[in-house]
Amino acid sequence: MSAPDLPIALLDSGVGGLTVLHEFLVSLPSENYLYLGDSAYFPYGTKSQAELRGRVAGNLGYLIERGAKLLVLACNSAATAALEPARELAEAAGIGLVAVIEPEAEIAATISASGRIGVLATPATVRGGGYRRALNAQGRGLTVTEVAAPDLAPIIEQGFPFSDDVVETVRGYVAPLRDAAIDTLILGCTHYPLVAPMLQRMLGRDVRLVTAGHAIAAAAQRRLEADGTLIGDGPEGTYSFICSGDPDRFRELGTRFLQLPLGAVEQVATIPT
Ligand code: DGL
Repeated sequence: MSAPDLPIALLDSGVGGLTVLHEFLVSLPSENYLYLGDSAYFPYGTKSQAELRGRVAGNLGYLIERGAKLLVLACNSAATAALEPARELAEAAGIGLVAVIEPEAEIAATISASGRIGVLATPATVRGGGYRRALNAQGRGLTVTEVAAPDLAPIIEQGFPFSDDVVETVRGYVAPLRDAAIDTLILGCTHYPLVAPMLQRMLGRDVRLVTAGHAIAAAAQRRLEADGTLIGDGPEGTYSFICSGDPDRFRELGTRFLQLPLGAVEQVATIPT
């Protein structure tokens, strides 16, 4: 397989990264994609930074070995814990890596009128401080309110039952963001765009929700152009899926969230770390 035909490989702990894949499918439709959901190890958001670093390195090593022309860290918890080692791995393999966090921070800092920005993310992402650093680096003296939502990604990964309990749980996460009178909310977990309508209703129309998707796809395009491996116009590319947990479950949930047929999902044995 020639280098341009190699897939762009995305990593998440489960189905959340499909929200990033969706943006790639829209922005770069002729590319081929390989998506790894490390669902046997879900959730990443409650693991320690050291655990995540090992896990992410193992997964990226596996994707590099299978053959990829670009790596995408489509998981904020992973990007917070392991961005630098992930970049080093990609560099050693002679390919690029793009990741969530910085693109959303840049967009949020640009569009916020009041300078009051909220971040809703997993405990690992909040603890790791990646958004706070990225937002501070924007140099606008932004006021940042971070809320850790330990249950939200697991609720989504379970198929997001629309029960009153779930609504109350989410309302509890939104309350401090409302109190802080933010005008911009970064959805700091790739699972969260899947519940954007509920969050928007609780926050009100005037709060703008920022996700990684579009900006990270643009960053990927720039990197592939620089590498000379971008597939320009052409027929639609292919996509395929691997997970470490139950493949039927992944296919069922993933199909619902991506709103495209996933096809056969390959299960990989435990990924060496
Ligand atoms: N999608 C992952 C993220 O962006 C988190 C979900 C999890 O806790 O594994 O942080």
